[in-house]
Amino acid sequence: MSRIVSTEIVFAQGDEEIIKDCHRIRTDVFHIEQGFPLDTEFDDVEQIAFHFLLRLTELDPSTGETTTKSVGTIRGTTPGVYPSNNRYKLSRLAVDKDYRKYKFGRLLVEKLHKWIQEDAKLTNRPAEVECHSQIPVMGFYAKFGYTPEGEEFDEDGEPHQNMVVRLSLSE
Ligand SMILES: CC(C)(COP(=O)(O)OP(=O)(O)OC[C@H]1O[C@@H](n2cnc3c(N)ncnc32)[C@H](O)[C@@H]1OP(=O)(O)O)[C@@H](O)C(=O)NCCC(=O)NCCS
Repeated sequence: MSRIVSTEIVFAQGDEEIIKDCHRIRTDVFHIEQGFPLDTEFDDVEQIAFHFLLRLTELDPSTGETTTKSVGTIRGTTPGVYPSNNRYKLSRLAVDKDYRKYKFGRLLVEKLHKWIQEDAKLTNRPAEVECHSQIPVMGFYAKFGYTPEGEEFDEDGEPHQNMVVRLSLSE
């Protein structure tokens, strides 16, 4: 049985190989596992959004060999990228099924939040973030301070809830 020995989150911008891994994970999770259509998965903001990839290194103790795998991704956009939204947006958070409940979702959200805090400071904007949460995942986002805003709505055939958090800039 392999053991996880290290993790890293890399910024995907400008690296087609990394973007390809982000897309593979999203296709597996949102399209194949959850049944969302591919044309809306890869939407109009895909090219101008910021993508992060979580990679881990596993050790096989019986052989001493290590392998590196890409197992999670998250996407962020800056205020105004979506015309109806003047906040940062968290989207396309996905962890491969076999690697859930290892706190990798948490690592990805924390990394995106850090990036947003840095950008907000540089651009003198409030670090307000929203995400369209699937209903069973609302409790996950609540752990990071997100609270529901407005009514549930349909997105790509599934009920979603807009959730919002304002991150501190004082750290
Ligand atoms: C949602 C998702 C990214 C969570 O990733 P994960 O790596 O399994 O989550 P973590 O292990 O980092 O969990 C962090 C915390 O959230 C909790 N949590 C995880 N999933 C949760 C859920 N669905 N509801 C409530 N809490 C949840 C964990 O118990 C943990 O709590 P703790 O830190 O207090 O112990 C993962 O389940 C996933 O990829 N799901 C399919 C894709 C998806 O639905 N994405 C969200 C679209 S809106």
